[in-house]
Amino acid sequence: MDHFLYRNGTLHAEAVPIPDIAAAVGTPFYVYSTATLTRHYHLFTEALSPLPHLVCFAIKSLSNVAVLKTLGNLGAGMDVVSGGEYLRAKAAGVPGERIVFSGVGKTRGEMRLALTGGVRQFNVESEPEMRALSEVAVSLGVTAPITIRINPDVDAKTHEKIATGKKENKFGIPITRAREVYAEAARLPGLKVIGIDVHIGSQLTDLAPFEEAYLKVADLTRQLRAEGHAITRLDLGGGLGIPYARSNDAPPLPTDYGALIKRTVGDLGCEIEIEPGRLISGNAGILVSKVIYVKHGEGRDFLILDAAMNDLVRPSMYGAHHDIIPVAEPPVASPTQEFDVVGPVCETGDTFAKGRDLPLVAEGDLVAFRSAGAYGAVMASEYNTRPLVPEVLVNEDQFAVIRERPTFDEILKRDTIPAWL
Ligand code: LLP
Repeated sequence: MDHFLYRNGTLHAEAVPIPDIAAAVGTPFYVYSTATLTRHYHLFTEALSPLPHLVCFAIKSLSNVAVLKTLGNLGAGMDVVSGGEYLRAKAAGVPGERIVFSGVGKTRGEMRLALTGGVRQFNVESEPEMRALSEVAVSLGVTAPITIRINPDVDAKTHEKIATGKKENKFGIPITRAREVYAEAARLPGLKVIGIDVHIGSQLTDLAPFEEAYLKVADLTRQLRAEGHAITRLDLGGGLGIPYARSNDAPPLPTDYGALIKRTVGDLGCEIEIEPGRLISGNAGILVSKVIYVKHGEGRDFLILDAAMNDLVRPSMYGAHHDIIPVAEPPVASPTQEFDVVGPVCETGDTFAKGRDLPLVAEGDLVAFRSAGAYGAVMASEYNTRPLVPEVLVNEDQFAVIRERPTFDEILKRDTIPAWL
């Protein structure tokens, strides 16, 4: 459920009419709902209670500092994968003890940043990384708390570009070698081993792969404890999928996922961490765009929007589906028409949808891409020198611009011309 609904014939974000925001900031723009972010965060905390737990929002899915502050104020932790994301979490006022540092290639600079600024734990993904972290910690006179991300060799049954838990993927340490790696970690002077981490992929619509992976984590916990490691924390990653198409079967709910966690690892007495991104942010945001032209082509009609692949890359990158709806509510049983929905960027890949049945829309009309909160704005680029689109946060009947659209002056100023020119 989200808070982007038609009221009196017009799409609203909570109590704010979308055309009001369009009039204030121009199109295209992203808009996020505080109520949806809050609701989705609470679904997870309720699903995991009464286990001791921390829900760490995967910042990579939506990293605007105002969104992070919204979640941070509720008590959320943050899962970061770069120094930049770490600084965003800090800028949102999230204390270091609620920031988990993940990622397959952390640099020594990033390790130093987090060790000096405060960090809950590093999720370490390789032996060289583990040795580097120990050295950095020793050089700073501190001890780095770590989990080791294991690769359980489980098929997450999701898009190949976002599956991470098979042995051929670059992530984690093969579970078959986990015991020797934990033994080495325990010997390294700058590290304190506290737990196990696993993340098998994103947009999972079936709970079975989670179950398979978490049962392997439970077994490993017992083995490692028997070998003398104090395993007190399990980071179970993110990945729970969301419904992108209204017509599809609904993916499992956070309550089912919480029950699965309790069933598989709940008796180990560990503190549980999860790192959901998409389920919290995905349906908490839409991308609003304007129809520039309706073009009649050979055997097909094109809806040419002012948003493009640089603003929302998921359809061209993963063939992802986003529902597209008009901002003016179509009358019941109004006729529909098939369109190829495209942006103005100069490549055929700049296609949002092919042969999509849409209510009649005309030049100048506003349309909204649903489920665009996660991996939308964060993956945007300035391809074709199109400015990054503004982000807006709604809270009941208020809205605020939380990132301005840059001016062309600002964009051009970033380029510098060498003296020889
Ligand atoms: N934890 C780790 C270690 C991750 O790598 C990810 C996502 C998450 C948590 C959050 O996963 P989520 O709950 O959002 O599924 N750009 C792609 C998705 C890439 C996901 C990368 N890792 C897309 O647009 O579908």
